[in-house]
Amino acid sequence: MSDSPYQELIDDPPQTRTVGRRVFAFDVIDSTNRHTLEQGEQGAVYVADCQTAGRGRLGRSWHSAPGLGLWFTVALDGLWEGVPIIAALAVRDALADRCALTIKWPNDLLLNGKKVCGILAEHRNDRTALGIGLNVHHAIGDFPEELREKASSLEAELGGSWDRCAILRDVLTDLDGKVMLVQDQGADALRAEWAEACALIGRRIQCGEVVGEVRALDATGALMVSSDDGAQHTIHAGDIHYLDGG
Ligand code: BTN
Repeated sequence: MSDSPYQELIDDPPQTRTVGRRVFAFDVIDSTNRHTLEQGEQGAVYVADCQTAGRGRLGRSWHSAPGLGLWFTVALDGLWEGVPIIAALAVRDALADRCALTIKWPNDLLLNGKKVCGILAEHRNDRTALGIGLNVHHAIGDFPEELREKASSLEAELGGSWDRCAILRDVLTDLDGKVMLVQDQGADALRAEWAEACALIGRRIQCGEVVGEVRALDATGALMVSSDDGAQHTIHAGDIHYLDGG
């Protein structure tokens, strides 16, 4: 495909050990995660200009209109349970010289309090599909109406010009370093950094039925919350709402 926005990366992939050594680009695909689960090869990256059935967390769909975002999936052999944590740190760090992204538990990336990036890891047949969706060029009106208050893009927040191919190269390079670190030293090598980035200890939150204060994040990254009636809850997944501002 000669006019892919990612052609430069296909012709000259990053000099990484695993992640991104091969890059495959689609104009349109249903979901890069679905494709990767079915035929991903270790370390390869599948990026699409448009997804017709992009998948989000908690069974939601992910808005992936043409030309607006960076929609890609990394294939990893094995069951990488904690890989969204690694990916959230990698996206934040890869973009640190361009913008200050914050991590909202478990692995959303926010800019000016609005979600600009989501991460979804899926597993099948001893393969992990690590999907990352980064909103780049959207104007707020490009999002479905129900998302306009909560979602945004790099361009809508900061203006300027953004090169999806250059961003992808930087994210893959950073992600490769972190995947190698975790492979060599285990997940704990990054977990404390991620927990600190989530900045949740002591905060008052609501997640589903649970309202209370976050006491800790356990070894799996789950939230340990004391609710107002003194009950203790462990929350593994969900959407949190801050009740103390921010
Ligand atoms: C979320 O709900 O926050 C996770 C969104 C993940 C979206 C990405 S876009 C590339 C990859 N392919 C998919 O179908 N989903 C992920």
